[in-house]
Amino acid sequence: MIVLDQKNRIFTLHTQNTTYQMKADQYNVLLHTYYGSRIDGFDLSALIQYGDRSFTPNPSEAGSNRNYSLDVMPQEYSTCGVGDFRLPSIELELANGSHTADMRYEGFRLEKGKYAMEGLPGFYSNEDETETLVITLKDAAAQVDMELYYSVFEDYDLITRTVRVVNQGTEEIRLCRCASLCLDFLRTDMDFITFNACHLMERCMDRGALRSGIQSVGSVRGISSHQHNPFVILCDRGADEDTGICYGAMLLYSGNFEAAVECSQYENSRLVMGIHPYHFCWTLEAGQAFTAPEAAMICSPDGFGQMSRQYHKAIRRHLLRDPYTGRRKPVLVNNWEATYFDFTADRLADIAREAAALGIELFVMDDGWFGSRNNDNCSLGDWQVNLDKLPGGLEALVSRIKNMGMKFGIWMEPEMVNEDSDLYRAHPDWALQVPGRAPSRGRGQLVLDFSRKDVRDHIYDQMKKVLSCVEISYLKWDMNRSLTDVWSVTLPARRQGEVYHRYVLGIYDLLERLHRDYPHILIEGCCGGGGRFDGGMLYYTPQIWCSDDTDAVDRLRIQYGTSFCYPVCTMGAHVSAVPNEQNGRVTPLKTRGITAMSGAFGYEMDLGKCTAEEKMEIRRQVESYKIYYDLLHDGDYYRLSSPFQDGIYTAWEHVSANRREALVSVVYDRNGAAPLFGTLRLKGLDPAFQYQINRTDSFYSGEILMKAGYPLPQMKGDYSAVQIYLRASE
Ligand code: GLA
Repeated sequence: MIVLDQKNRIFTLHTQNTTYQMKADQYNVLLHTYYGSRIDGFDLSALIQYGDRSFTPNPSEAGSNRNYSLDVMPQEYSTCGVGDFRLPSIELELANGSHTADMRYEGFRLEKGKYAMEGLPGFYSNEDETETLVITLKDAAAQVDMELYYSVFEDYDLITRTVRVVNQGTEEIRLCRCASLCLDFLRTDMDFITFNACHLMERCMDRGALRSGIQSVGSVRGISSHQHNPFVILCDRGADEDTGICYGAMLLYSGNFEAAVECSQYENSRLVMGIHPYHFCWTLEAGQAFTAPEAAMICSPDGFGQMSRQYHKAIRRHLLRDPYTGRRKPVLVNNWEATYFDFTADRLADIAREAAALGIELFVMDDGWFGSRNNDNCSLGDWQVNLDKLPGGLEALVSRIKNMGMKFGIWMEPEMVNEDSDLYRAHPDWALQVPGRAPSRGRGQLVLDFSRKDVRDHIYDQMKKVLSCVEISYLKWDMNRSLTDVWSVTLPARRQGEVYHRYVLGIYDLLERLHRDYPHILIEGCCGGGGRFDGGMLYYTPQIWCSDDTDAVDRLRIQYGTSFCYPVCTMGAHVSAVPNEQNGRVTPLKTRGITAMSGAFGYEMDLGKCTAEEKMEIRRQVESYKIYYDLLHDGDYYRLSSPFQDGIYTAWEHVSANRREALVSVVYDRNGAAPLFGTLRLKGLDPAFQYQINRTDSFYSGEILMKAGYPLPQMKGDYSAVQIYLRASE
């Protein structure tokens, strides 16, 4: 609900549990007055204190009033160069060389439904599900207008926002910074939580207290990156899964980003999040506009668990565009870890046949099927079938797979080119490179200049030939290196600061074309595993390969960190062979199944090498996944313990909306000769219900399970796992 107090120029956005408020003051500065637990009917600007502080300039309108300074006031969208020395949200370079920006309140409008963003990903809704507030600001001297957009998704405590900047003058201006979100707090006693690490260990949670100065995470790799995720949290120091206020900030963007928090002199802090200012400079000619990527905020007064569940629901219902909405996604088998580049049509057919017999429904042919690709040094860019490997082409292979009753999926890496390819030989200038410098390689490959429409058109034509020649129901869109040598032959020198962003817009353009032309194809995003796991990609690819690390124990950490923002159904997760390819660890097959099942589930191993007993276990896993599908994918998700803390197990739980069903998954750590007795307290149940345990004669009340706990079975061996299914008796 959006409440307007026009007389006092107060704008209040209410969600079910939270309130967000802004106020235009006497000098038309748009103040940020409050964000937190829901409060109705108040002007919260009374919380702001004014006082004479040295070295904090006073705007000229304030006359002799030294108590008024932008440098200490909480602002909705911070300015640059006019007296607020904290993190700016916008930076303009005008034709006269000035770098200041001072946006003042002009007016507002209310709209039904969600604002639209052409060419950029964003949450969507029907007209009657959301309301939008647009606040207009103006920098009169610069002749720049700005619109701040806010859409309120009440039931999810979600507020999405973006910013549109318009050059209303007659001269060209340059936008050197344009954040999507600025969030000021009148406090610094908070923790900053980020999700970091590297390829093969993405999104590990890192938590630390705010301290003086600026702390930031970001990416200048051209992708959102394995190293840092464009999702961060600010929270009470003592916040945990169930208590404390926490603020999630998610940027729906797949390229360079920055999330920075500054704690400044008078106990205030500011979070600014948006496109990374590194090598970003967008020229706006007279009349032209720029729209920043969307940011999505959820505040939870009741800890991380509630924040995550709200993100999960909002993402599932209002961000993903999944061809399987309302239907079960097929369980897949992927040949990558089974064969790498070394396969023939017969070998693939063998894997598919084994898989079909175990109840697996989709066969995915990974890298190595095109050009003369027998290793990773050649053929990217040549998307024609390798007839030596696949005689009879895709047609012959797909008809074999279909005859087994399976669907077919394929791998592509559209953004890339190898120097050893027909594409590169014909168009060497299509790769990103700086004149006079030989470009750096990554995995032996170069990056195509996706800021160019002609390049995208050519790749898309090739893709269409592949996707239209046979029935393809799944596409794995991969991307296997960071961007370097970012320079485009099509743009003049002063516009080279646009290339990183134009590249991202180019990917979104191609993905949107795929959606339009092949709405039935399920696209799985991938970037060396989880190097581009962000809300921007999720709008186009409703699942993303979570990590190239398929070890079940490492995956506990990766999937745990990922779950703070992103729902289980978006995390590609496969059971693979042991010893694990990446770290050599041996874990039980059951554990691998239970871990991968809390994801977009599949297998990635040579099923022909499995023993009869293993095959029985796999058949059981596939059946369980199908039985528990709704619970796993639509249920409320509760983290019961953290894999980052020493404990005897990691546990999590899925609970149905009506609380009548729950599935608890527990993966034990290394075992001792005298294993500890573990009692696991559950969450989210109805205290009054009697729950039947694993369809046996054992019953526990919800109250007991939540207050006292459930006695965990004692297991033998390292890294064992159990699943406990609860069903309320009628
Ligand atoms: C990336 C992906 C893998 C696999 C290989 C193929 O590393 O993350 O899953 O597809 O590429 O080259």
